[in-house]
Amino acid sequence: YGTQTTNQAGHLSIGGVDTIELAHEYGTPLMVYDVALIKQRIAGFKQVFEEAGVAYKVTYASKAFAAIAMYQLLAAQGVGCDVVSGGEIYTAQQAGFPLATASFHGNNKSAAELDYAVTAGVGTIVLDNFHEIDLLDQVLQEHDQKIDVLLRIAPGISAHTHEYIMTGQEDSKFGFDLKSGQATQAFEKVQALPRLNLRGVHCHIGSQIFETKGFEMAAKAMIDLLAQWAKTGFTAEVLNLGGGFGVRYTAADQPLAPQEYVRDIIAIVKKEATTANLPLPEIWIEPGRSMVAEAGTSLYTVGSRKDLPGIRSYVAVDGGMGDNIRPALYEAKYNAVLANDPDGAAVETVSIAGKYCESGDMLIWDLPLPQSQPGDVLAMFVTGAYGYSMASNYNRNPRPAVVFVENGQSRLIIKRETYADMAHLDLNESPSHL
Ligand code: LLP
Repeated sequence: YGTQTTNQAGHLSIGGVDTIELAHEYGTPLMVYDVALIKQRIAGFKQVFEEAGVAYKVTYASKAFAAIAMYQLLAAQGVGCDVVSGGEIYTAQQAGFPLATASFHGNNKSAAELDYAVTAGVGTIVLDNFHEIDLLDQVLQEHDQKIDVLLRIAPGISAHTHEYIMTGQEDSKFGFDLKSGQATQAFEKVQALPRLNLRGVHCHIGSQIFETKGFEMAAKAMIDLLAQWAKTGFTAEVLNLGGGFGVRYTAADQPLAPQEYVRDIIAIVKKEATTANLPLPEIWIEPGRSMVAEAGTSLYTVGSRKDLPGIRSYVAVDGGMGDNIRPALYEAKYNAVLANDPDGAAVETVSIAGKYCESGDMLIWDLPLPQSQPGDVLAMFVTGAYGYSMASNYNRNPRPAVVFVENGQSRLIIKRETYADMAHLDLNESPSHL
């Protein structure tokens, strides 16, 4: 992936930096991001739109990995972002991110969060439900302000992916339902509120999607809807088709190249808009995973081992479900190598266990590896999306440090959490029994 190679020392190198040296310098578990690969992904998405000559906006779904340095990288590369909480808005704001290019998503944004978004200057609110339309209008009245909005539509399309990360199907908590007419009710309601400047619609059909069929169906459903609304004199300026482009975690995954999804989306939107006799709206996409997953590698130090003759060998590392809950939550599959011997021939099959007090805390089952020793560094690939961002302090384990690497240099972007950080919010008053 990206700039990964084996260097002269025979170690895995990322961004021209030796991962064994990274492990020594910053400790493990460590998240390493290949900045060049993130830039390449961003440039790739933009290039497809530029080549097609259509108006567009690439917004990064920051839930995949949100950090001050990440927002700064996005800003420098000229992409927008989608934020889903006051906390993400705050982090983007701290980074000096131009919030006018941000979209605020979520199925239960609070009045306080909407107020924060409006005062912080978030450009677009993606309205999810009727309650929120009222809340936002009230906030705007208080500030005597207007804001751009999109309506999130649930198009009733089931993308083929894990049930927990499917989002566009009819029976979903997100968005205005299409079939029952809620979408058009929301359209009418918003059109009657002059503080809400309706620019178009949004839909997101799911995540880790390998086929373009779902995007095509969604685009068609959205254009059909916009064609109905056009009869009232409304012209949509924006069609946001969300994210969800799949990535390759292991050899079993066969995603398209990230640009292929976008090429297909542009083609289908153009075709459907022409058929419906609508002006071509700006096309917005919101990739999260496909922007950062492959750029991320987790480094762990190998520790204990348990051999069950004829059954399996467990090799434990110093991280686990606290820094990457995806295997435990979604049965997500990953690949890994020994960073000190990345090309070594496999001599055994082991299962990589985390250090957390749960049997389900397994990072990889049945991984072929060279002989490993305590102290070796295990590099687990494609952990850049929904790893750190879903990290927890379960068992009061500190969250890992995160570094950016590029052109032979590393830069610490998130410090390793300390024990004191974790106890920081606990009140330590004289014992009482209330
Ligand atoms: N836009 C919206 C409205 C979304 O809800 C999401 C993801 C995205 C964009 C970005 O989707 P992506 O390009 O990353 O697939 N924690 C799960 C994934 C949850 C995705 C939630 N929404 C996982 O680890 O697989």
